[in-house]
Amino acid sequence: MEQDKIKALVIEDNPDDVRLIKEMFRECGVDTIDLQFSGSLEDGIRLLGASTFDVVLIDLGLPDSQGLETLKAVRTKYPEMPAVVLTGHADELTGMEAVRCGAQDYLIKGHTDGHALQSSIRYAIEREKLENRLQDTADRLLRIVNGTVDALIKMAEIRDMYNVGQQHRVAGLAVAIGGELGLPAVQIECVRTAALLHDIGKVAIPPEILNRPERRGQLETSIEQTHVQVSCDILRGIEFPWPVTEVVMQHHEMMDGSGFPGGLKGDRIMIEARILAVADEVDEMAVARPWRPVTPGLETALATISEKRGKSYDPRVVDACLKVFREGKYKYG
Ligand SMILES: [Fe+2]
Repeated sequence: MEQDKIKALVIEDNPDDVRLIKEMFRECGVDTIDLQFSGSLEDGIRLLGASTFDVVLIDLGLPDSQGLETLKAVRTKYPEMPAVVLTGHADELTGMEAVRCGAQDYLIKGHTDGHALQSSIRYAIEREKLENRLQDTADRLLRIVNGTVDALIKMAEIRDMYNVGQQHRVAGLAVAIGGELGLPAVQIECVRTAALLHDIGKVAIPPEILNRPERRGQLETSIEQTHVQVSCDILRGIEFPWPVTEVVMQHHEMMDGSGFPGGLKGDRIMIEARILAVADEVDEMAVARPWRPVTPGLETALATISEKRGKSYDPRVVDACLKVFREGKYKYG
């Protein structure tokens, strides 16, 4: 039936290859796929925007684009368009690389026939649908994780109204520092989530110990420090896509080994935890707390982390934090 026909755009500049594709379909009696041809990347991208296609077949060597850049250009403009890459017989590795770069399939020119080409086109369309469904599921799971994080934060804030907003501020600064350090997106997401939840265990600490302006005694300090283990106990049951619980466990570790609970040193502390430690210290000093009569302020906070640079704190993280504030990439509201 006409409406069941697949509409395929073939971006191929070689007239011999265009003829070959047409002949392959004719010889094998393939009449369920309508082919349209384009001879350049620019024209192909224009046609994809001007009409509706189900799939695009791409020759990687075009007059105006060469290699995987051709595929990337199409995928960037039309990320959900199923793509089959056409490669030469000596270029199978490029075909496999194309699949890693987002193509749904590849075919070696001269080593295929109309049936194989038809199968590849149908496979590419079905695979794209499956990939979209998987992405939808991953997005939904991420929303569930983020919803759980929000619920935990709200619960903690109901218990400790003096520190409302603290987790979001620390997360904002930690993300800015991670960005300044050039961390990959997944690591930044881990930093963000760990920063939101790092002190969740304070729900177990009596507010009269947590929010006292005067210096705590040894016993009170020990009780306060248990919040790290309690945080991890609360979080351990959540299967985060990132090592959030491990980062939370290390958020009070110091580069010189003077932190707690493990007394870890240097590189044994995860970079995410080193970032969190700096962001937490800055927020603690820079932002007013209702129970504290005097706020040291941002300048004092930055002077303090500079002083502790290379001792308590990772020098690269301190430098990134100073740069973030100097260049206005993070501001306290
Ligand atoms: Fe903490």
